[in-house]
Amino acid sequence: MNWNRKHLLDLQALEAGEITLILDVAREFRAVGERDIKKVGALRGRTVVNLFVEPSTRTRISFELAAMRLSADVINFTAEASSLKKGETLKDTLRNLEAMNADFVILRHGASGAPHFLSRFARSHVINAGDGAHEHPTQGLLDVFTIREHKGRIAGLKVTILGDILYSRVARSNIWALLKLGAQVTLCGPPTLVPKVFEQWGCRVTWNVEDAVRGADVVNLLRIQHERQRKTMFPSIGEYATLFGLNRARLSLLHPDAIIMHPGPINRGVEIESELADCDRSVILEQVTNGLAVRMAVLYLINGGRPGEIS
Ligand code: CP
Repeated sequence: MNWNRKHLLDLQALEAGEITLILDVAREFRAVGERDIKKVGALRGRTVVNLFVEPSTRTRISFELAAMRLSADVINFTAEASSLKKGETLKDTLRNLEAMNADFVILRHGASGAPHFLSRFARSHVINAGDGAHEHPTQGLLDVFTIREHKGRIAGLKVTILGDILYSRVARSNIWALLKLGAQVTLCGPPTLVPKVFEQWGCRVTWNVEDAVRGADVVNLLRIQHERQRKTMFPSIGEYATLFGLNRARLSLLHPDAIIMHPGPINRGVEIESELADCDRSVILEQVTNGLAVRMAVLYLINGGRPGEIS
């Protein structure tokens, strides 16, 4: 299978085969990352603009490094220091970037659908780096890549996503990718943050954390997204940590080979006891490492690269 999409906007629209293609190419790029010289020439002469209108550590640096490792020219756009602050629209910002021959625009934005909006008139390739509570497709891809590397497959695995599902773009991208690849997905958290409507997507929903984690092959913990919540969704952080945080007692209920995941940033002592974030079952930093290979694969495929032809 070859890639034939101009943009990467979400995982909901992708076929299982397209997701598998990205994961397979990411595996090739992970091997490149283990060489002495970690750079290839696939995007030489291309310009990649990181247009981040919301804060980011992992995603922005990972895309920057991915583009550099592919030999692209990289521009980091900081919204706070840009003419967006003077009232310039996102559309006009894009047009100006394209007037300077931007080939790729990597967009993080607080508004769900912002990358889809830009893609309607973009000449450049638009990649969604997280849009509001909608999707974070490269995070979903790096998460399923990490699971596949550990478990050798996705189909049939029991994956529990625990935390703020309602406001999480990471949850939505994970759910689409995992279901398309045949995993059994359980969602858990406070009822206000885990509505039953997700059952219509094909997920199991439970508000009982012990029930959610028992026998799970993977538990993916999500941060409480206070920045997106318009009202108080549960009584206190302390109560959340007690009722839904991953602790040693809950860890003992997982499958003995289960892995612990978190997209970051972590709130230690809230969604996970601090020492568990660093224990040998945790693959949290490995997710970050894999994110680089996945983003290299996405840029490479959208640029017309083919599997097996990375030199
Ligand atoms: N996982 C993630 O999106 O982290 P950043 O917000 O730091 O990019």
